[in-house]
Amino acid sequence: MKVLVATEKPFAAVAVNGIRQVIEDAGYKLALLEKYASKQELLNAVADADAIIIRSDIVDQEVLDAAKNLKIVVRAGAGYDNIDLEASKAKGVVAQNTPGQNSNAVAELVFGMTVMAVRNMYNGTSGTELKGKKLGIHAFGQVGRNVARIAKGFEMEVSALDPYCPDEVITAAGVTPIHSVEELYSGNQFVSLHIPATAETKKSVGYDLITRLPKNGVLINTARKEVIDEEGLAKALEERPDIKYVADIKPDTAEELKAKFGDRVFFTPKKMGAQTAEANINAGIAAAHQIVAFFRDGINRFQVNK
Ligand code: 3PG
Repeated sequence: MKVLVATEKPFAAVAVNGIRQVIEDAGYKLALLEKYASKQELLNAVADADAIIIRSDIVDQEVLDAAKNLKIVVRAGAGYDNIDLEASKAKGVVAQNTPGQNSNAVAELVFGMTVMAVRNMYNGTSGTELKGKKLGIHAFGQVGRNVARIAKGFEMEVSALDPYCPDEVITAAGVTPIHSVEELYSGNQFVSLHIPATAETKKSVGYDLITRLPKNGVLINTARKEVIDEEGLAKALEERPDIKYVADIKPDTAEELKAKFGDRVFFTPKKMGAQTAEANINAGIAAAHQIVAFFRDGINRFQVNK
């Protein structure tokens, strides 16, 4: 049995060692393809893999066709918009994620970027504090819940919108449930995005919502660039010089936005929310265990392509 770890953005070495241990203890072989520069390298590497562990790596029809022995692909992380769910399902390949394993890392980065925004990118000028300010969490999944927990430490007033999450769960976390997206943006100076990229959410946050933000609004995006309507974002930033946008995902129009809005926008060069040793260990080793549990005991709890 061959398990391939295919990560264009590699895990920390300590996480790879942990994955190797789990895979080899089960009597399987581990292959590693890191920092690959072309799709062809991935196509070659998957040829004889029974299982693949990936991060944001694209698993599309072509990759599935090249992976003749493939039975399972595990996305070591939360979002699985990089896997062709229909194509994998049609091929009888199970797709799983590892929900929650990297969520604290992403949530901590939300505050890393938010503090940076309100302290004017640490340029030495007088900024503002987060204490007592209002934070709206757009989707109350694993990352959103961690963001709420940390926000409480900052003594922020926290509310959340999530039509898929019962109000009681939100209330139990000491967070106020909100039931309309307009209200979420109008009522909170800070809005942190945690919606997945789906057909329904793509380009769903644009001019109309962003311009609802109260004075000195900050939109924090550690979710996916695809959920932003970038044209609408640019228009909103143009009209509202008090608004800032900080993102862990470089927009398609990053250069234009940076040239026009300077320090009012910030983008990490590469998605790094989950790029911590802890998150790599948690998500990577969970993925390895899930593969072993799948082959040994038929456990398939985290399947996302049913
Ligand atoms: C996720 O969906 O788990 C995060 O966006 C992290 O993605 P990454 O593994 O590519 O860093």
